[in-house]
This record gives sequence, structure tokens and C-alpha cells, in this order.
Amino acid sequence: MEQTSARLLIVDDDPVALDLLREVLSKEGYEVVSAMSAEEAISRGIENFFDVIITDVRMGEKDGMDVLRSFKKTSPETAIIMITAFGSIDTAIEAIREGAFDYISKPFKLEEIKITVRRALEQRRLLRENQYYRQELLEKYHSNNVIGRTPQMLQVYKTIARVADTKSTLLLYGERGTGKELIARNIHYNSRRSDRPFVTVDCASLVETLMESELFGHVRGAFTGALQAKRGLFEEADGGALFLDEVGNLSLSTQAKLLRFLQEYEIKRVGGTENIKVDVRVIAATNQFLEPLVKSGNFREDLFDRLNVVSITLPPLRERKEDIPLFVIHFLQKSSEENRKPISHISPEALDILTQYSWPGNVRELRHTIERAVVLSTQPIILPEDLPKKMLEEVKGKEIQFPEELLPLREVERSYVLKVLRETKGNKKKASEILGIDRTTLYRILEKG
Ligand SMILES: Nc1ncnc2c1ncn2[C@@H]1O[C@H](COP(=O)(O)OP(=O)(O)OP(=O)(O)O)[C@@H](O)[C@H]1O
Ligand SMILES: [Mg+2]
Repeated sequence: MEQTSARLLIVDDDPVALDLLREVLSKEGYEVVSAMSAEEAISRGIENFFDVIITDVRMGEKDGMDVLRSFKKTSPETAIIMITAFGSIDTAIEAIREGAFDYISKPFKLEEIKITVRRALEQRRLLRENQYYRQELLEKYHSNNVIGRTPQMLQVYKTIARVADTKSTLLLYGERGTGKELIARNIHYNSRRSDRPFVTVDCASLVETLMESELFGHVRGAFTGALQAKRGLFEEADGGALFLDEVGNLSLSTQAKLLRFLQEYEIKRVGGTENIKVDVRVIAATNQFLEPLVKSGNFREDLFDRLNVVSITLPPLRERKEDIPLFVIHFLQKSSEENRKPISHISPEALDILTQYSWPGNVRELRHTIERAVVLSTQPIILPEDLPKKMLEEVKGKEIQFPEELLPLREVERSYVLKVLRETKGNKKKASEILGIDRTTLYRILEKG
């Protein structure tokens, strides 16, 4: 309850009633402003924002209904409580129809006023939270948050744009960490279903019987331990989307049930006989190709055809290296904000390593790498030493890359010595050992630059 910060306006042409209300509500911790006429109330509303207005209906020339109409137009977030004369139920109903939060009829108990104000504030808070939540989701999954400008990713965006607003079933392919779930959410939140749930289920997480009950629900007594009927995820997702992650892991029996849904848009709870209609968009994802599973008889061909109406393949990161710097900047910004560490740059050497690395864990691995580097870094810039050892080793193990431009030996020599020094964290003894030179020679080379 945020009582202390709430601002109230009370409107009544009776000074006695006004004083009483002001006293009681101030004691509750609210900031209370009063007005003795509709006109005064409206002009106060121009100067100030009020969370709640309590207004008498019957006043001078303009009445409480004018206050209500005026604030509904200029300040729709304000909750308005009407005080009506005893027995004037028609006025009360009209006020509610015009958008009043509630009405209280005279004579009222002070307790009633207090409770109604509390309820109004609570409802405002929930409304605000919902709006905030939705906004946050939109920001999180709007295309601005899907990074990538390579032709492969542009192809992905094109498909998204084409299918987002349809009900079409989708199949997303991609190695682990390539962004299948991110894209699935993006599609959902860019569709007309965006205000309905996006429900995810990992098809590899449960054994067959539990998976079927998870997806389709069960009736009471369907199996030992099913003491109560339960709705499944299909019903939870009604009107929205169901994300079936690792769909290749579904058992043949569950596949048959999924196929039936895709044909009839109907499900049966486990142990039940009733057909339940549900309106759900299925988005399936897999990191293994399904064709071999179809060939070996582990995945139904008819289901595969149904799922595969539209498919999107997310390329592995190593096939879109040009996007790596974009990702790095994006994740660097996010992590430095989250960790309150102003690290906004990466050294060319570190970026070079990130670009050469093979990224078996794809974008997720890159994200974790940057997050870790931000946490570890003691300087305002990410250096090679902030990257995982195995990454440095893998890249180092690759063939020596010579600069394209042809340079005098001493320059290459110097920059190579510098590289070794960086990787040994400035340890000159170790560096000279690796280079097979003594320390005096090392100093001499460095001084030559
Ligand atoms: N194009 C992208 N832009 C921004 N962030 C991305 C992008 N692709 C992936 N990510 C990020 O990488 C991480 C992994 O993405 P996601 O969970 O969607 O991958 P996945 O393919 O579902 O992986 P898995 O198969 O392991 O479940 C997430 O933090 C996600 O935000
Ligand atoms: Mg995933």
C-alpha cells in the first residue's frame, strides 16, 4: 500500500462534511486537497494530479457528474468515488456507467470511505503494474532487441514479418543458444495474440505419461495420484501460443495426440472422454534435424508435415561472424548497466579473439562470456585476459594469422612480442621463455617501436 504518496481531492459544498472527510483521510496518511464546488475541483485538477477524487453529487450549479466527466477526459487514471443522496440509485448507476470507480450513499460510515479509497488505490496500482509489465515485455521482445544484420538474419526477419500475424504453426531449427525461444517470443509478441499467454514446455523434461498430463491435463483418477482434475498447458495457452521446445523428444503416443490437436483443434484430458476445443498457436523448436528421426520411425511423418508448414532456421553464430561485434556491444551495454560498471569498450585484440572463436554454445555462450568479462574486469575496457582461458587457447591453437598488409619485420616482431606479453598478462619472464629470447632482447624489441 502506498498510502503516504497518494493524493486525494475531496469535493463538497458542505464545509462541515468537507472538514470531517479531510480530517479522517489525512489521518490515514494521504495528502488531501479540498474544493467547495465543481468549478474549483476542475481547476485544482488542472494544477495537480490526483489519485482519487471523492465528490458529492449534488452541489451548486455544476454538480458531481460534471466533475466526473471533466476528469474522465483530462485525467483518466484518477479514480472517482461519488457520494450520492440516500435512495438516488439511478444517479449512482449513471455515474458508474460514466466511469466512476464506485459510489457511497449518504449517510455513510467513515470506515466505508476509508475502505473504498484503499480499494481504489489498490486497483490503480495493479493497473499501473500491468501496463508496466506489458511495456516491459514489448521492450524485451520487440525486434529492436533481436540483434543481427547479416543476410541470414535478414532472411529470418522476413519470415517473421510474414508469419507473425497469422495463426500458422511454426518449426524453428537451430543449434543450442541460437535464439529459438527468443524468436518464438518475438513472433508471439508481434502477433494479434500478444495479450494472451505464451506458454513454454520442454518436451525433453518429462516421461511420457507425465508429459501427456502436463500438455493435455487429466481427469480425476486418471492415474494413481491424480486426486484432482487438472488443466493442461494447452488449456493454459488458450488464445495464445504454446512453445514446444525440443519437440523431437516427444514420445510417439504424445505425437499422435499433438497431431490430433493440429487437425481438429481439440484435445482430451488424460483419462477423459470429453473433447475440449482450444485455440492455440503451436510453435515448435528443435536443435536436431527431424528428418532422420522420421526415417528411423521415431517421429511421425504426418506430424512433421503439419509442423513444418513454415520453418525458420537460425544459423549458428560461427556462420554469422559479422554480427559478433554488434552482439558484443549489445551485451556489453546490458551487463555494464546491470552491474553498474561503466565498461563500454572492448580492446581490438579481445574482439579479435571473440570473432575467431567457434562458439559451440552460440549466442548464449557469447552473452555469458561478456557478462563474465564485465564482472571480472578491473578496467573500463574488456581485455583478452578477461575472456575464458579455453577461448584463448582455441584461438591461439589456430594457424598464425599474418597481417594482410606487408610490413617490415621489426614491426611484426614488435606487435607479436606485445601480443605474447598481453597473453601472459605482462609476465616478461614467461613471455621471453615463450618467444625463446632473453629479457634484454625483449626490452630492445619493445623499445624499437
Ligand atoms: N538475435 C539475438 N539477439 C539478441 N539476443 C539473442 C539473439 N539470439 C539469441 N539471443 C540471446 O541468447 C540467449 C539464448 O537464446 P535462446 O534461449 O532463445 O536460444 P535457444 O535456441 O532457445 O537455445 P536452447 O536450444 O539452448 O534452448 C538468450 O539470452 C537470448 O536472449
Ligand atoms: Mg531454448
